[in-house]
Amino acid sequence: MLEARTILVVGATAGIGAATYRLCSQRGANVIGIGRRKDLGEALVRECGGRFLNGDVTDEHWLAEAFASLAAGNVRLDGAVNKAAMTQDAIPITELPVALFDQVFTLNVRATFLCLQHEMAAMRGGGGAVVNVASIAGKRGYAGLSAYVASKHAVIGLTRSAALDGARSGIRVNAVLPGTTRTEMFEQQMQTRPGGEAGTVAGIPLDRASDPAEQAAMIAALLSPQASFVTGETLTVDGGATSS
Ligand SMILES: NC(=O)c1ccc[n+]([C@@H]2O[C@H](COP(=O)([O-])OP(=O)(O)OC[C@H]3O[C@@H](n4cnc5c(N)ncnc54)[C@H](OP(=O)(O)O)[C@@H]3O)[C@@H](O)[C@H]2O)c1
Repeated sequence: MLEARTILVVGATAGIGAATYRLCSQRGANVIGIGRRKDLGEALVRECGGRFLNGDVTDEHWLAEAFASLAAGNVRLDGAVNKAAMTQDAIPITELPVALFDQVFTLNVRATFLCLQHEMAAMRGGGGAVVNVASIAGKRGYAGLSAYVASKHAVIGLTRSAALDGARSGIRVNAVLPGTTRTEMFEQQMQTRPGGEAGTVAGIPLDRASDPAEQAAMIAALLSPQASFVTGETLTVDGGATSS
């Protein structure tokens, strides 16, 4: 369903991004990955083909140069996935350092905004599809995670507004809201989450964390022509965790 489409995956070196890179490649897309860890990005290209741009998306100058290099090579994007993000340790809002709040917003919100600007510009003239990876933390609160939760609510706001801005150009913008997924981020969250892994999984009706491939499958579905009339939407992929 993604044959000959050029799809950018921002945050491709690990977790849901690496799974998305693999799946899009298996479905025939020309995939371009972005991430800071060059060794992991190059390994992904050796495994799946495609291309890796090594950089930090919070660096707006690097980002502008990366997109300029794609434009110079006549690369037109058909799809983009924004999933570079960070979580935070569980810290009550009264004790949360402002610097940590700023760090979370710089990556999770500001860089997503910058990527959307560049990606939608790189789709003009032919339409396209963007999937932002938000979180179930974008639709409810979690004690101790105020910066992360607020950032994911903001990503959903960006998604809805970008969908309206892109509609006339044939650009669809949606968000996937993962629940607990076995990635590096999951390992980090479990270190300070009250109740740890057992407590987290106990709240999931399907009684397990998801595999990154299960998130990638829904991201690929929203990128595909099967989702041609879906825009400004959020798709929750959480094993039922937020249904009750
Ligand atoms: N895992 C979960 O349980 C869970 C639950 C809900 C939502 N989510 C959301 O799902 C998304 C993916 O999470 P994940 O679990 O797959 O995360 P992950 O395994 O921690 O991967 C994060 C990715 O983002 C990249 N990245 C981070 N900072 C970057 C930067 N400044 N510039 C470029 N790339 C950067 C990392 O690559 P480098 O380190 O190589 O730069 C890595 O590829 C995130 O938006 C997260 O909030 C995850």
